[in-house]
Amino acid sequence: MAETKYNDKVIAIEDLSKSFGDHQVLRKIDFTVGKGEVICIVGSSGSGKSTLLRCINKLERQTDGKIYFNGCVVADKQRDINSYRSKVGMVFQSFNLFNNMTVLKNCMIAVTSVLHESKEEARERAIKHLKAVGMAPYINAYPAQLSGGQKQRVAIARALCMNPEVLLFDEPTSALDPEMVGGVLNVMKELAQTGLTMIIVTHEMAFARDVSTRTIFMDKGYIVEDASPQELFYHPKNPRTREFLSRFLEGDGSDSSDGDGKEAAGA
Ligand SMILES: Nc1ncnc2c1ncn2[C@@H]1O[C@H](COP(=O)(O)OP(=O)(O)OP(=O)(O)O)[C@@H](O)[C@H]1O
Ligand SMILES: [Mg+2]
Repeated sequence: MAETKYNDKVIAIEDLSKSFGDHQVLRKIDFTVGKGEVICIVGSSGSGKSTLLRCINKLERQTDGKIYFNGCVVADKQRDINSYRSKVGMVFQSFNLFNNMTVLKNCMIAVTSVLHESKEEARERAIKHLKAVGMAPYINAYPAQLSGGQKQRVAIARALCMNPEVLLFDEPTSALDPEMVGGVLNVMKELAQTGLTMIIVTHEMAFARDVSTRTIFMDKGYIVEDASPQELFYHPKNPRTREFLSRFLEGDGSDSSDGDGKEAAGA
């Protein structure tokens, strides 16, 4: 039996480091995610946010440290990784849809081939989740016929079809035209309200402030601050957090009292 710990957490990251050659990208990362939490990770380019998500999803192997899922260490055996990945889904900046498949097929394929569910079950799930993201009218369309925002909503529906326990998002709106961003953020906000556990790397500060249960600020491979959005956006403790946020906040948000002024963090 593998080591168990953090039994009340869906995900726990312990002392995680990652290097590419002699370039250390993640340094002693520690944090936990409880059921239903929505964690937003913010930080400047190159701070290691994507690498962290990729380690959590086992797309990269950490150099050091452990990842726990529901209290058990996630092992490096491919079989364990495949089963883990069906429970910890990922939504990418670039959608990663299969271009030669219809929207419906995109949503069904892993449900039948990975989860070995029947076609009927896969179709039912696909239609349910495509409806929820407003993409039901497009089930027979191919990705090339969709806008970026529509593709991302399909990618989210596809991830939901696997009935994940956690969904990871790596800058899901960064590749979108500005007018498409709101629709995708709304879908994510609704998902958060359903109680789905989510870890979201984003540059959308207003979204992080309004939707996250905790916001993590990363810099140079470190978690510099991990706090409630109220604390992090309106009373950041670390000067690096303050400096980062000052690029998004009007004036100096760090001193701006109790943060009831929503416009203050409007990114
Ligand atoms: N496969 C790789 N091989 C070598 N170096 C890598 C690899 N992937 C990432 N890096 C390096 O790791 C560092 C962190 O990259 P990462 O993509 O995790 O940053 P990020 O915070 O997601 O940045 P952004 O906001 O631009 O997406 C960067 O210096 C990057 O060049
Ligand atoms: Mg990134």
